[in-house]
Amino acid sequence: MRTALIGLGNAGHTLHLPALAGIPTATVVGTCDLDPERRARAAKRWKVPVFAEFDAMLEAARPEVVIVATPPDTHAEYCQRSLAAGAHVICEKPFVSSVEEADRVIAAAAAAGLQVALNHPFREMPIFRALRDAARPEEIVFVQVWQLMDLPPWAEPGWRAQMLQRTLYEAGVHLVDYVMALFAEKPVAVSATISSCGVRETHSDSVALATLEFSRGRLAHILQNRLCKGETQYFEVRAETAGASLRASFGGRARLTAGLHRSVRPHLRLDFGVAGMAWSE
Ligand SMILES: NC(=O)c1ccc[n+]([C@@H]2O[C@H](COP(=O)([O-])OP(=O)(O)OC[C@H]3O[C@@H](n4cnc5c(N)ncnc54)[C@H](O)[C@@H]3O)[C@@H](O)[C@H]2O)c1
Repeated sequence: MRTALIGLGNAGHTLHLPALAGIPTATVVGTCDLDPERRARAAKRWKVPVFAEFDAMLEAARPEVVIVATPPDTHAEYCQRSLAAGAHVICEKPFVSSVEEADRVIAAAAAAGLQVALNHPFREMPIFRALRDAARPEEIVFVQVWQLMDLPPWAEPGWRAQMLQRTLYEAGVHLVDYVMALFAEKPVAVSATISSCGVRETHSDSVALATLEFSRGRLAHILQNRLCKGETQYFEVRAETAGASLRASFGGRARLTAGLHRSVRPHLRLDFGVAGMAWSE
């Protein structure tokens, strides 16, 4: 598969190019970035052709698939230009900036007979996949997912610092997508609140709370707390079924606990997962 990539940053350089290098049927026919240093880094590390200009890359490389891994406000434009050049698209999350843009991209793909896929990796990561495999979607009655970080939106590096009210959109979309994968359906109702919680006058979503209602009144609660000065975790899940609390924690954990819990017998327990862990309570 002749594959091209635009955006040679975190996602492009550290996720997609290594993944492509491990797929024998994929050939990277072109990569593109505005930044000459990023282009030089990719050419040196991954031995891939680099281009400064997107249309020049499409013209010269004739890709069958284009991976779009630039900042979110450029996704719609690059998706449409890739489709116009006859290429399928794999677009990084978050897809595009509005429902209207999404409709335009999907209509362009349908008209051209091409596919647009989104990269939502968490639902297939082993620890999160294990939790999905432990219960059928209809057995899940309530889900909590949360992200605790000491990183308010204004302290983010690069373009993310400009997205003061889009933490739920940019990073929280991982949590939203995973909840939808657990229930295997779309929510019937959504409510959400964002706030800087008085920490800064500029309005921002340093804390985001969202409630999703699914069929039969089943609920999911999503919390992003970017003001957390205590123990932080990138992505935690608790899914309740009739018989168990299914848990997953991404981002590494090492903890020794001893004592009495209300719900378990006296215990001495070691939790250890280098990249994360899944367990049942
Ligand atoms: N799926 C995941 O787990 C995951 C992880 C990280 C990032 N992302 C997503 O990937 C996208 C990129 O994020 P990132 O962290 O790699 O950002 P980044 O800033 O590290 O990289 C973006 C790159 O795009 C280049 N760029 C910016 N505007 C451009 C333009 N108009 N044309 C060509 N190149 C341009 C920049 O020079 C930079 O090299 C975002 O949508 C982000 O949400 C997804």
